[in-house]
Amino acid sequence: MASPINIDTIPPVRVFPDFPEPGVAFQDLAPLYAEPGLLARLGDALVEPFAGAFDTVLALEARGFVIGTAVAAASRSPLVLARKAGKLPGALHRSKYALEYGSAELTVQHGALPPGARVLLVDDVLATGGTMAAAAELARQSGATVAGCGVILELVTLGGRKRLAPNPVTSLLTVP
Ligand code: PRP
Repeated sequence: MASPINIDTIPPVRVFPDFPEPGVAFQDLAPLYAEPGLLARLGDALVEPFAGAFDTVLALEARGFVIGTAVAAASRSPLVLARKAGKLPGALHRSKYALEYGSAELTVQHGALPPGARVLLVDDVLATGGTMAAAAELARQSGATVAGCGVILELVTLGGRKRLAPNPVTSLLTVP
């Protein structure tokens, strides 16, 4: 297990106002990923609160693939990728959702999440919670259960945590 994260010593998230739409502040986590060893520590930090409660990681396209892979590797868990519409072949579970900007659809293949699996949903950012809620719906359709939701950064005022209740949510960084 890597050393715990001291949020005062990690690089700041870069914020780009009005991207990709006016009124949206883009949270750029690239400086965190560029910090040697930090991604592994972020993965460990998201495993710890859910240790023993999950057996499968579901990572959400696209930016959630980075931290989702770190969490799956840290926990030695199977990794399943929730892909956006049009990316996966075969029979699919589908869940449409509204974004902070626009709308989208997440999918997983039938059987990718085994019935009865206890799934940790992992993404980079929690904003309105629409993406995570769609992922939770994919778990439900698969016959799996949601063990929790883990993100690096939570935009608290957008209310994602309330939307996902009663599922437990852990975020490593918050923006008020
Ligand atoms: C971003 C982010 C989360 C989602 C959070 O992804 O990576 O998945 O928005 O927003 P929400 O809580 O309001 O749903 P985006 O949809 O921009 O797609 P990308 O990861 O493919 O860039």
